[in-house]
Amino acid sequence: MYSTDDQRKLYDLSKKLLYTPQADLFGEGVAERAEDLRRVIRYHDWRYYVQNDPVVSDFEYDQLYKQLQAIEEQFPALVTPDSPTQRVGKDLVESFGQVAHLIPMLSLDNSYNAGDLDDFDEQVKKLCKLDKDTDVEYCVEPKYDGGTIALVYDNDRFLRAATRGDGYMGDDITLNIKTLKSVPLQASFSKHGIARAELRGEALIRKDIFEKINKKRQDAGEALFANPRNAATGGLRMKDPREAAERGLEAFLYQLGYAVDKEGDDILKRFTTHDQSIHLLRELGFKVPLHQPEPGNHLEETKTCRNIAEVIAFCNAWQEYRDEYPYEIDGMVIKVNSLEYQERCGYTSHHPRWAIAFKFKARQATTRLRDVEFQVGKTGAITPVAKLEPVPLAGVTVQNVSLHNEEFIRSKDIRIGDQVLVERAGDVIPYIVKSLAELRTGSERVIHYPKHCPVCHSELVKPEDEAIWRCENSDCEAQVLARMIFHTSKHAMDIEGLGESTIEKFYKLGWLHSIADLYRLDYEKIAQLEGFGEKSAANLRNAVEKAKRNPIHRLLHSLSIHHLGRKGSTLLAAEIGHVLDLKDWDLEKYQTIKDVGPVLAQNVFNFFQNPHNIELLETMERLGVNLHQTDEDKKAGVNTEGPLYGKSILFTGTLSQMTREEAEKRAAAAGASIASGVSKHLSILVVGEKAGSKLKKAQELGTVEIWSEQEFLQKIEQ
Ligand code: IVH
Repeated sequence: MYSTDDQRKLYDLSKKLLYTPQADLFGEGVAERAEDLRRVIRYHDWRYYVQNDPVVSDFEYDQLYKQLQAIEEQFPALVTPDSPTQRVGKDLVESFGQVAHLIPMLSLDNSYNAGDLDDFDEQVKKLCKLDKDTDVEYCVEPKYDGGTIALVYDNDRFLRAATRGDGYMGDDITLNIKTLKSVPLQASFSKHGIARAELRGEALIRKDIFEKINKKRQDAGEALFANPRNAATGGLRMKDPREAAERGLEAFLYQLGYAVDKEGDDILKRFTTHDQSIHLLRELGFKVPLHQPEPGNHLEETKTCRNIAEVIAFCNAWQEYRDEYPYEIDGMVIKVNSLEYQERCGYTSHHPRWAIAFKFKARQATTRLRDVEFQVGKTGAITPVAKLEPVPLAGVTVQNVSLHNEEFIRSKDIRIGDQVLVERAGDVIPYIVKSLAELRTGSERVIHYPKHCPVCHSELVKPEDEAIWRCENSDCEAQVLARMIFHTSKHAMDIEGLGESTIEKFYKLGWLHSIADLYRLDYEKIAQLEGFGEKSAANLRNAVEKAKRNPIHRLLHSLSIHHLGRKGSTLLAAEIGHVLDLKDWDLEKYQTIKDVGPVLAQNVFNFFQNPHNIELLETMERLGVNLHQTDEDKKAGVNTEGPLYGKSILFTGTLSQMTREEAEKRAAAAGASIASGVSKHLSILVVGEKAGSKLKKAQELGTVEIWSEQEFLQKIEQ
């Protein structure tokens, strides 16, 4: 696409354009300058969106783009249809026109295991009239799970794009596809004798971008997309191209479907292999499956396999790798590499006989919803849980699936007795996609949301700004138990051997009433329990003793204060010498901590105003649980972006504008660590009035920076 030499020139040109004073912009040679800008922007789009490897910063790119916009605004005659500024149009699509594909877009036959692939290979050999021992070469690439697209280029310019539709006619989605920066608006087909071409591919949304889109929609109270495919196909059909542009769609091209020269003669036959045609697309600047793994990917996207055994091994490797790949794929596509063999194989009315899809293990299954159970969480949140007839799904048996909240059940009209479609994608927890209303027999029951806590029967409440009903009785048995289970869990106090079932067992035995009881277990009695014994009781004691020494950020997190997660706990722990210091904090003080919002502040404040909680913490301290800030807590709060990050600091003498304690806090907030004495490891000594021996020692060492109080204040303000 771009030779090294071209790239160097375009890079130098970018810098020249960037650093030519703005005043020259509209002077002589403006047309030439506009063309230069278009060229460099196209190049940077390619580096960024196709190669994933930009060579200029986002800021520099924006400057180039703005220059071009400014020129085009001043001289509208200089705007070309394929200018990078013309990607996102302002006009709305009234309705999608229909376009005929240049050749029909067929489907693919499916295979599910090695046996199916062997059969396919055998069939190919028969059709090609090859003997059984001759190897056929295959190209194998991901089966992208997005929206199928067909792009037409005419005389090197992007002409139009369409969806697959019924395979013969598709919707005209030109304006939306134009917004995809991985789709070049011009490409040098003519250099290769091609006057008109149709390319096939898939428009996709990367999984992490999809998550962000859904997060944004959730925050805005909009319906969530079930998967990246829905978000992608929806994006292709936006009426407003500006919205399509915001979906972050990318296009992978996997087939040159049609190519004719100026005379209209088919020139696909000039290629001998599928590989070659894909290589050409890459040359022309399109995003295609790559033969080399990209940085961060383990596996190459496509492989030219010498025989079907290699195909099977590659497909199996991808089945394992699938979840780590940044895009959603639902299988692999296997294509006969030789175009001559492809022709010999031919087509059915439905699919080519020279290609087959290898589908990964199903991630969706249907099963019956037997019942719904309402569970009470550690902060009293009521979660409806679907009890399903157990069904195998992508390697696990699924039987309990969260139904999230009342609105989820209502919007999907899920009923007890329904057949439901369950999906499990990647690491994602299984969820119910929909209920199959058409299979209802009439015996299904509407799910009634409880008005009272299923455990303690107190009345449930639903805060106005929340989607969830809550049991507000913090002594509710279910909450107490859930809090204990959370308290000992990995991210909280991390007490090995005190998992859910053990806690439930001890609870039933009447040994546990609050989390303090976890620190006064009777290990002799435990040793007598069935399934325990001396050894496990001793191990448990060690684990509990170890947990007592935990840093306080773990303890804070373990208290199940609503919205107080690991990060918030760490931030708080860095600010206090002792957990009970928080008793004296007022609401405003919480909000001075960066990243602590009003809701979290209120929750922590309420917790520490409640005498029961103070008593609980005091009891825990008496039982040996550490409530003092540890070095880890101090460190965890270090501001790595602060102006004093990486420096150690010490204060000496009397400070005039703040107390020593306050000065240390401010230094820590600026990223410094507080030293305990003057040594060669000390970076800064701040001297107040009447400084004595410390100053002298620092001066003798000669390696310590000596600052006045005023200097210190100036530095931390920076
Ligand atoms: S080749 C003539 N290659 O799968 C056959 N298709 O079931 C052309 N798909 O909607 C298809 N990734 O959009 C081919 N690497 C790939 C693919 C792929 C995804 C889609 C295609 C079509 C469906 C066919």
